[in-house]
Amino acid sequence: MDRWQTIIEPFRIHAVEPIRLTTEADRERSLEAAGWNLFNLHADDVLIDLLTDSGTGAMSRDQWAAIQHGDESYAGSPSWYVFLEAVQDLFPFRHVIPTHQGRAAERILFSALCGPGSCVPANTHFDTTRANVEYTGAEAVDLVIREGTVPSMIHPFKGNVDVAALEQLLEDRGDAVPLVVVTVTNNSGGGQPVSLANLRDVRRVCDRFAKPLFLDACRFAENAWFIKTREPGQADRPVKEIVREMASLADGMTMSAKKYGLANIGGWLALNDDAIAEQCRSLLILTEGFVTYGGLAGRDLEAIAQGLREVVDDDYLRYRIRSTAYLGEALVAAGIPCVQPFGGHAVYLDARSLLAHIPPLEYPGQSLAVELYRAGGIRGCEIGTVMFGRHPDGSEAPASMDLVRLAIPRRTYTQSHVDYVIEVARDVAARAPSLHGYRIVKEPAALRHFSARFEPVG
Ligand code: F0G
Repeated sequence: MDRWQTIIEPFRIHAVEPIRLTTEADRERSLEAAGWNLFNLHADDVLIDLLTDSGTGAMSRDQWAAIQHGDESYAGSPSWYVFLEAVQDLFPFRHVIPTHQGRAAERILFSALCGPGSCVPANTHFDTTRANVEYTGAEAVDLVIREGTVPSMIHPFKGNVDVAALEQLLEDRGDAVPLVVVTVTNNSGGGQPVSLANLRDVRRVCDRFAKPLFLDACRFAENAWFIKTREPGQADRPVKEIVREMASLADGMTMSAKKYGLANIGGWLALNDDAIAEQCRSLLILTEGFVTYGGLAGRDLEAIAQGLREVVDDDYLRYRIRSTAYLGEALVAAGIPCVQPFGGHAVYLDARSLLAHIPPLEYPGQSLAVELYRAGGIRGCEIGTVMFGRHPDGSEAPASMDLVRLAIPRRTYTQSHVDYVIEVARDVAARAPSLHGYRIVKEPAALRHFSARFEPVG
């Protein structure tokens, strides 16, 4: 197997979806109508959609077959038991609460545990996690290691929590902290993994201060693969065993099955504490659904269960991580600054560094994302000052980084699609000095990146 260098997709294509080809002139019209916000585009106007890896993957033959087993009983559906068994096989928490997606699990957990005056530390909160913490009146604090905030700095586990900073926070404000969150992999920090050693250290600190530790586990399988391939002593362990050890270090988890359920929708909250679980189930019934379906159809529960059996496969994970790195390596070879090492689900372009002539408050990430779309129909996602720059008190400040994320939907695009992305990105980078910034002309109070409207500056 090592003799051949070409990475092949470990699957064949079984059903095809057409991509509508567009011209630059078409895309300029689409951009103007969308207020230069790529979230406002009609997806038919996108050639290669790298906006997110969330819910956009291709399901397997066996997942489609599992869907036919979906049982839509309101309570106690057999599909619920199939789902429960698959979740607990990897994450043996006592209580599993199904939700329609990850943020519903977050909302329920944080509503139960947080409120005004409380403070939730994490390596880095993802945008919905932060928004759900802040919505309760609590403060979300990011404590990733310093290497995790410097795009060019190489470190095998850039998602690690700064354990000394966590200890300090708990010493200073321990009474205000209802739980500690670790995001695996650390999406907002570049899809970077967290090591088992770091999770064990965080566990020790949580024990010392008697705080529950929750994983935001969306991309747990990629995190486990990075542990297997980068952490000393882990190479010979099955991925599944590493996942179980990650789970054993936590008191609970929130999960988006749109990532590593390999499904198009779904999520769950899992935890060991009986009293908190009861409180969460009451909130679940209020807005999501009964405790054995939580806003999902029985067929979704089946698709997730089958997906969970597929994600811990070495051949899949090797291809996944290798093919993401293939894109990253080509961009770096073309002189485009990227977060390194490459994350599992995406390559993050360092727009602040590529477009150093655009000040952060004129959104270099937005500028780069718009130009990749205008030139080649590629839709990426700004992860920077547009996403994180507006604070609850109304002030605006540059985010710690201005990145453009090219997220790779799972099992969806082929190497020639990726080669096209590389060609377009090279062309855009060569014209970087001619790109201009943007100003926001309309924005909502929270999560502005989803619906803000922009205007070119100059
Ligand atoms: N946590 C992390 C780390 C995430 O990346 C996401 C979603 C969520 C929680 C929320 O899950 O979408 O099912 O409600 N991330 C997607 C993304 C949207 O594009 O990275 P959800």
